[in-house]
Amino acid sequence: MSDTANTPPSSKIDEQSRRDFLLVTTATVGTVGTALAVWPLIDSLNPAADTLALATTEVDLTPIEEGQSITVVWQGKPVFVRHRTGAEIDQAKKDDAEVLPDPEKDADRTVRPKWLVMVGVCTHLGCIPLGQKEGEPKGEYGGWFCPCHGSHYDTSGRIRKGPAPTNLPVPKHEFLTDTTIKIG
Ligand code: FES
Repeated sequence: MSDTANTPPSSKIDEQSRRDFLLVTTATVGTVGTALAVWPLIDSLNPAADTLALATTEVDLTPIEEGQSITVVWQGKPVFVRHRTGAEIDQAKKDDAEVLPDPEKDADRTVRPKWLVMVGVCTHLGCIPLGQKEGEPKGEYGGWFCPCHGSHYDTSGRIRKGPAPTNLPVPKHEFLTDTTIKIG
């Protein structure tokens, strides 16, 4: 008589249940995986549905030291928040006098000069420029660099060289307190 024939009925049921459980678990993991893979596509096709609830984003500036940047998400887009150094602010103001592809004064791009807030999406074809993290290339003008096709942005986020047609856009934002901003 084989082992299977000797297996008591309750063990058979246990084994069957365990198999069912494994199948259900696998199916669930598969479904979650698919959902995660598809979400960005749905989100990009239909930003209004997902992002209206996040029409504004509040950011605590306290942990961002001078010379540091963070990236937050606002309406599904990365937003760069930089605590500029005095040297960066001076350079940005000096560069107001340069011939700029998309002329804008630095003062018109900030609510408070120390804090530069802008959508971190290259205006050429939509890559996310480098320069947010320590050690990343900041381009020839000390701001941000988009390696996709070589766009250089200055310390005010203005396009200075490369194919990007316009500056990194500054979203509407305001200071709720000295250390909190609301974007949107
Ligand atoms: S997408 Fe940034 S340079 Fe082309």
